[in-house]
Order: sequence, then structure tokens, then C-alpha cells
Amino acid sequence: MRAISQDMHGTPEVLAQVTLARPAPAPGQILVGVRAAGVNPTDWKHRAAGLFLGRLPLVLGWDVSGVVEAVGFGVTLFKPGDEVFGMLPYPHGVGSHAEYATGPARAFAHKPVGIDHVQAGALPLAALTAHQAIVDTAGVRAGQRVLIHAAAGGVGHLAVQIAKSRGAYVIGTAGAPKHGFVRSLGADEVIDYRTTDFRDAAQDIDMVLDPLSGDTRARSLDVLRPGGVLVSLLPGADPDEAAKAHALGETGRTTGKIVLTVPGE
Ligand SMILES: NC(=O)c1ccc[n+]([C@@H]2O[C@H](COP(=O)([O-])OP(=O)(O)OC[C@H]3O[C@@H](n4cnc5c(N)ncnc54)[C@H](OP(=O)(O)O)[C@@H]3O)[C@@H](O)[C@H]2O)c1
Repeated sequence: MRAISQDMHGTPEVLAQVTLARPAPAPGQILVGVRAAGVNPTDWKHRAAGLFLGRLPLVLGWDVSGVVEAVGFGVTLFKPGDEVFGMLPYPHGVGSHAEYATGPARAFAHKPVGIDHVQAGALPLAALTAHQAIVDTAGVRAGQRVLIHAAAGGVGHLAVQIAKSRGAYVIGTAGAPKHGFVRSLGADEVIDYRTTDFRDAAQDIDMVLDPLSGDTRARSLDVLRPGGVLVSLLPGADPDEAAKAHALGETGRTTGKIVLTVPGE
């Protein structure tokens, strides 16, 4: 089969088409003939550096949509010919940027007939991230005010739609050329982060989704209402957070405790 592989870490030029043996599904796995496979920031981060996967050569890709070619021992969820989409187990199950990929049957679902393989192959990693943040972690409810940074991005544009579907009032940040796109997804307001400090345009926020970290994450603490939730997609407690925690404590106006946590990816 053809696959996109790399023998070293580096710039996009390290990616090359190679011919590899077609994999066989292990017990509990399915073999999928790949029709479309999303590309996410974690792909180009792993291309550039070892990150969670030191091994080389490496075929990237966690998102996949395609057709079941074969099923391993014990698989009852799918049969050859089924159209499926899913996310290969992160990080070690990687390998969808190829003509065929194997993964646990439980990592897949039947592809809805109303979307094509390109749409389905774009969804898993970014949509699961957005859903985990908006629904599982923050539990966004109708009427809440949600601020989504990078609202035109891979995670953000899905988070806008999920938050709207929950009945939230959604404010997004994006560069001006993307405001029409973000509004078309249902956002109630869009802030041009290049010309406006979002703290001047959005307050009393129940939930901030932060895919950016750094200064944006630190300033986001200022727009939260008491009890509001900041969900960040990136690791690292930067010193600003710790500094804000001290500054908040020194006001002598806190309620309950301030706690720093060690974030994970
Ligand atoms: N922890 C997890 O499970 C997890 C899962 C998925 C992703 N992530 C991480 O989350 C991050 C975002 O992923 P993604 O796929 O959404 O990224 P992406 O699609 O590459 O994001 C690009 C978007 O970011 C916008 N942007 C850049 N700087 C901005 C700023 N200062 N304010 C507002 N918007 C800004 C850009 O809009 P403009 O062109 O207008 O600047 C662009 O639309 C990545 O670092 C990724 O690794 C983590």
C-alpha cells in the first residue's frame, strides 16, 4: 500500500510517499480502506519532533474515514463493506495517512449517510476535543455565555456549533476575514482579536475554550464570571497563571481556596 512516511523529524519536506505491506487486523481490530484522513496540529507537531512518538520511520494520522476491508477475530460491530469513521488510539495507534489502517473496532462508528468521507475524515479528533471541552468538561448549558478563541480553527469551528446546539450565547475570536464564516456557524458575536482586546468586548463569561495558551489564556481569566470555567487544550502552567493566582490572593477578597494544578495533554 502507499503511505506518507518520514525517516526523520523536521520540516514538511521530510514527508515522502513509500510502499509498505498492507497491515492485517489483529483480534478486536478492523482493517479500513482509507478514503479520507484529517490532518491536525498534532500531526505537524509530531512530524517536526518526537513529542509522544520517538519511533521512526513514522506514518502519521489519527483521523480516518473509509470502508471496512476485513475484521479481526472477535469483531462483531462491523463487517467488510461497512462505511466507518473514527480516531485511532492516541498517540500510539497512529497511521491513517496511508491507503489502509488498522485500529480497534471500538474506535470506529458507522459513517452517517448524510456526510461524505471527507467530512467524516475531518471530524474525529477535533470534534471529540470540542465535545470533551464544551460538554464533558464544562457542561455548558442553555443561556450560558461561552467565549471560544480561534473560533475559525479546527477545534474552534466545531466548538461554536456544539455550544450553540446546547443553547449557549457564543462569542468567538477570529481575524476579520473569518468573521463571516464564524457567524455562519451560529456565533452570536465575533471579536477581531487583532484590533480588539477581547477583555473589552466580552465579560461575565461562563466558559472559555482556549486552544492558544500563553497570553490569551492568562487574559481569559479576566473575563470569567465567579465560578466560570477555563478549558485549555494545551499543557503547561505558565508563570503568568501562577502570578495571577498570587495577585488574586493578595487582594484579600477571595472566596474559598486558590489551587494550581498540573495540566496534562
Ligand atoms: N489537548 C487536546 O486533546 C487537543 C486536541 C486538539 C487540538 N489541540 C491543540 O489545540 C490547538 C488548536 O488546534 P486547532 O486544530 O483548532 O488549530 P488550528 O485549526 O490550526 O487553528 C488555526 C486558527 O487559529 C486562529 N488564531 C491564531 N491565533 C489566534 C489568536 N491570537 N486569537 C484568535 N484566533 C487565533 C487562526 O485564525 P486567524 O487566521 O484569524 O488568525 C486560525 O483560524 C493546537 O495547538 C492543537 O495541538 C489539543
